[in-house]
Amino acid sequence: MQTPLPLLPRPSKETRGAGEFVLGPNTSLAGPEQLQGVALWLQGALRPATGHAFPWHAGEDGPAAKSGTISLGLDATLRAEAYRLEVSTSGVQLFGGDEAGVFHGCQTLLQLLPAGIFRAGQLPGIHWAVAACTVEDSPRFGWRGAMLDVVRHFLPKREILRFIDLMAMHKLNTLHLHLTDDQGWRMEILRYPRLTEIGSWRTETQIGAGTDAPLDGRPHGGYYTQADLREIVAYAAARFITVVPEIETPGHVQAALAAYPELGVHGTPMEVHTRWGINFNVLNMEDSTVEFFRNVFDEVMDVFPGRWIGVGGDECPKDQWREDPRSQQRAAELGLDGVDGLQGWFIAQMDRHMTARGRRILGWDEILENELAPEATVLSWRGMAGAQTAARRGHDVVCCPDDLAYLDYRQSELPTEPIPVSIALGVADVYGFDPVPAELDADAAGHILGGQANLWTEYIDSPRTLDYMAFPRLCAMAEALWSPAGRDLARFMPRLQDHLGRLEAAGVEFRQDAGPLPWQQRPGIAGRPESREERAAHIANITASILD
Ligand code: ACM
Repeated sequence: MQTPLPLLPRPSKETRGAGEFVLGPNTSLAGPEQLQGVALWLQGALRPATGHAFPWHAGEDGPAAKSGTISLGLDATLRAEAYRLEVSTSGVQLFGGDEAGVFHGCQTLLQLLPAGIFRAGQLPGIHWAVAACTVEDSPRFGWRGAMLDVVRHFLPKREILRFIDLMAMHKLNTLHLHLTDDQGWRMEILRYPRLTEIGSWRTETQIGAGTDAPLDGRPHGGYYTQADLREIVAYAAARFITVVPEIETPGHVQAALAAYPELGVHGTPMEVHTRWGINFNVLNMEDSTVEFFRNVFDEVMDVFPGRWIGVGGDECPKDQWREDPRSQQRAAELGLDGVDGLQGWFIAQMDRHMTARGRRILGWDEILENELAPEATVLSWRGMAGAQTAARRGHDVVCCPDDLAYLDYRQSELPTEPIPVSIALGVADVYGFDPVPAELDADAAGHILGGQANLWTEYIDSPRTLDYMAFPRLCAMAEALWSPAGRDLARFMPRLQDHLGRLEAAGVEFRQDAGPLPWQQRPGIAGRPESREERAAHIANITASILD
């Protein structure tokens, strides 16, 4: 058997050839005008480390085996996002089913070069050669995502841009930004300036787990202007990544209530929340509150052009509605059976508003507890029960079961793991993730759009910690979402080793195989480790309500 090409994610088909193509001062880029954006991106990726110019010749009719040229082209017989890469001793020909396919092929080409190509400055003495080969490749799933919680800890814009580059390197195509929660509101809303004036900062932050955990006494916050977010959207689009914004409703809203107390059940002033966990402060269900969020989502839809808009929907306790006479009266006015129906009613209002503008709502699997518009897309996070129920009911589904896709969970049983949260979820566990539940028939399985890794940031308080938690587990997730079904851990691990060289060159502070480095250890963070059995029992218990 041939030695596999050092590619991650693994491509559908690969063949090694004889010899190699060497990049040099005379290597150029060519292809049709339409591919100029991708070509200039590739030029920008090849130049810094090699020091060569890679001039771009637009207007050529697609790939022709011109000596010394990297030729780009489109091939209508290929699927969306698919590509075919042919490397011979005389040049490179790269065809894509669309521009995204050509872009993914460029990422493959970079991985076939020495890892130094991912450094940002010129290195002497490197032989910039690509082994002759043919790669035919296309993604298994159309939704290959990562969610960043930029609320619990704010991530500066430049770090989001860096994360987008790392996603692109792994052929991920969907960035879900969790923009609002109890502990902060991170998106500028022009009509309601207090959302960020008041809601984007909290006075302090809980350290560790538990309701009696100490607070750090230091203000924390930040937000993105609409110009920042448009920039993030454009930067991602140039890398064929769609940004899916999420505004949490009708729970996880304390930062909004701090800014506009009249949105709450009691209307009383409160602070942006300083602690983690599920919060009892939820929205009231008055028409004025629905109108407020319609207006918020109008601005969200103006800034984010993608099809999906996240409305949250998770962990919304009904206690305040149950105890509040006006909420009970409201439920009766709306013809609901009781206040428990209010959550579904509110999500339906948001769904109607977004659908009228040609968009689709995305919500956590709790939205299945109520009547749900058929076009709503469900994020299955409490295991895969939500995925099964939703797909059988005809909803599209994105799978991110917490026991396989929550990259905020601790990475091993080592006592030195810096963030001892929940179960130990290692790279091999993530690699074993399959977004299609075996129980589904082909029709229902067709509703599984793909999956995503979720990076909640209660304990991820810096870009360094983000790197440690995301990598290399996100590499395993990328392969689970891109590569053909079927896993071979023994063949994945050597490819991952090669890939870590690329991450190191790119400056990513990934977790080492031997465990956390001393600077990554954080004594003093009291976590709440769980066993897989405890976690599974807990999840089975709370998902009973969404299993048909
Ligand atoms: C979630 O983890 N609360 C979606």
